[in-house]
Amino acid sequence: MTLIDGKATAAQIKAEIKDQVEKMVSSGGRRPHLAAILVGHDGGSETYVKNKVLACEACGFQSTLLRFEDDITEAFLLEQVQKLNEDATVDGFIVQLPLPRHISEQKVIEAIDYRKDVDGFHPINVGRMAIGLPCYISATPKGILELLRRYEIPTSGRRCVILGRSNIVGKPMAQLMMQKQYGDSTVIVCHSRSKTLKEECRQADIIIAAIGHPGFVTADMVKPGATIIDVGTTRVPDATRKSGFRLSGDVDFEHVAPLCDYITPVPGGVGPMTICMLMSNTLSAARKEYYD
Ligand code: GUN
Repeated sequence: MTLIDGKATAAQIKAEIKDQVEKMVSSGGRRPHLAAILVGHDGGSETYVKNKVLACEACGFQSTLLRFEDDITEAFLLEQVQKLNEDATVDGFIVQLPLPRHISEQKVIEAIDYRKDVDGFHPINVGRMAIGLPCYISATPKGILELLRRYEIPTSGRRCVILGRSNIVGKPMAQLMMQKQYGDSTVIVCHSRSKTLKEECRQADIIIAAIGHPGFVTADMVKPGATIIDVGTTRVPDATRKSGFRLSGDVDFEHVAPLCDYITPVPGGVGPMTICMLMSNTLSAARKEYYD
């Protein structure tokens, strides 16, 4: 069994990005600039955004964090998005989700200029991704593809079961694993209503679990020699931790790991790759790789 080390891989990629940034700067270019909007004080979002700012530093990027209270109006937030769209010094930006309930996330996502949408959530990027055109690919699926590629895990023609159908992970992951230029796999998407979920998993060469249900994938669902990618990051109470919680994956790691050829741990697997791929998208934005 090989443990897929997302933390080490992410550190290596960030070093590669920093290298490229310093080359850009020494040849007269400016540093890539990522902006982030954070609304309110959701604990998970605070942590993510803090880590995104730190990752910008590690990559030699400029970063700007715009913080607002959770009682701002939707109209106000849309104005802030518009300002970032028009700010020529900002290469790409994100609006951290979730947003307060009185603000439409979809409206905000669609207000972002798709050419600066380094999260890859705008329908233009989602649509272009689905038909294999150059675009920003959302960070978690892109990070998983990068792990599979760097660990040289075969995917072409393999059976890949994706657990979960979210817009951020399940759906784009299925599209990418299906496409010839990425996974080239046979893809099966299972979700909370799937009657044959266990049977599908038992036949899978690769399982990508993104359902947010701690320990859902058990040893009886895994074929010996499979590759398991665990996207789960549920906070479960843990009194022994300073924070009062620990992160739990969707996989019963203790019992599943001995069966696998490859498996990602939680934490330290997919998580660190996600932020690193946001950095990769920001570098692409600064280089205008996909759009003028
Ligand atoms: N909330 C959870 N994951 C993400 C992400 O990748 N981007 C944004 N903007 N918000 C998130």
